Amino acid sequence: MLSYSTPYLAGRRSSVFYKDILNGLQAENKHLPSKYFYDETGDKLFQQIMACPEYYPTRCEMEIMQHQSAKMARMFAEHDSSFDLVELGPGDATKSWYLLRELQKTEARFTYYPIDISSNVIGWLEDRLPSTLPGLRMQGLNGDFLEQLLQVNTFSGKRKIVLFMGANIGNMTPQQATVFCRELHEHLQPGDLLLTGFDLKKHPRMILDAYNDRQGFTREFNLNLLKRINNELDADFDVDQFEHYPVYDPLTGACKSYLISRIAQEVHIADRVIRFEENEPIYMEISQKYTLPEIEFMAIQSGFSPVHTFLDSKKWFADVLWQRMP
Ligand code: AVJ
Repeated sequence: MLSYSTPYLAGRRSSVFYKDILNGLQAENKHLPSKYFYDETGDKLFQQIMACPEYYPTRCEMEIMQHQSAKMARMFAEHDSSFDLVELGPGDATKSWYLLRELQKTEARFTYYPIDISSNVIGWLEDRLPSTLPGLRMQGLNGDFLEQLLQVNTFSGKRKIVLFMGANIGNMTPQQATVFCRELHEHLQPGDLLLTGFDLKKHPRMILDAYNDRQGFTREFNLNLLKRINNELDADFDVDQFEHYPVYDPLTGACKSYLISRIAQEVHIADRVIRFEENEPIYMEISQKYTLPEIEFMAIQSGFSPVHTFLDSKKWFADVLWQRMP
């Protein structure tokens, strides 16, 4: 087939998505970036994962937000009631909604800036939030977290409060997460606040089950990235020839998911050929789990001082509030 030399597909081949995918699949140890899970189908599958009995993190953080948002709101507005509230990766904002509502009850004067890589998400929020939170000042931003945070810094010099909830930080290794927090530190001013959601270490079985739900939504979520590559990059993955294989290491706290090639096979992506050995893994995602001392260590290492830890009743999840140090 010669059609991929058309300008349209040539354009596809030069996309960042194409480059990231090929880079991952041509590496010695094949890997794919989990940030690409979230196309329209991926967003829906993630909603289904969150509703699974095994997937506890969302329910734990929801409990924290339902019961402790009032306290959070008080701590945010304590010394200065005027600020910008920036949320990295808000999803459907069902959790931050409680906090936004509590903030509206206080004297706080704030603008809400949700930042997401999915333009779907931002459009949806701008559509829905104003009707359920009348009077909310908001502006959605679509793109890279740190780039868009810099953008918000150009809008106003106000104090910043950054939300990074939903254990999204778990998709980085502890080392990457520390680098990311240092970069956040660079983009913030002394006294600014950061609220981050961390999933905590717990019985390994509970964690593994959460990433291996019986209904198979997590498996589909992983395989969907192969389907997305087929659709968007003119590839021919036979997804039935890949097996979802999640693992959890209780020592390091790393929960990782792999897709294992069931057979020796070749996959074509545009004009490239990717060869798989039988049983060769593609490393898909990390969902890192932490202890509270490990989280505190990360705060110090990245230039923040811990202010408060909000826990659910099972102590399975933590939303930690840090303050940027001078
Ligand atoms: C959205 C990154 C928090 O790692 O727990 C859920 C994504 N992956 N099931 C997580 C996910 C598989 C989720 N985060």
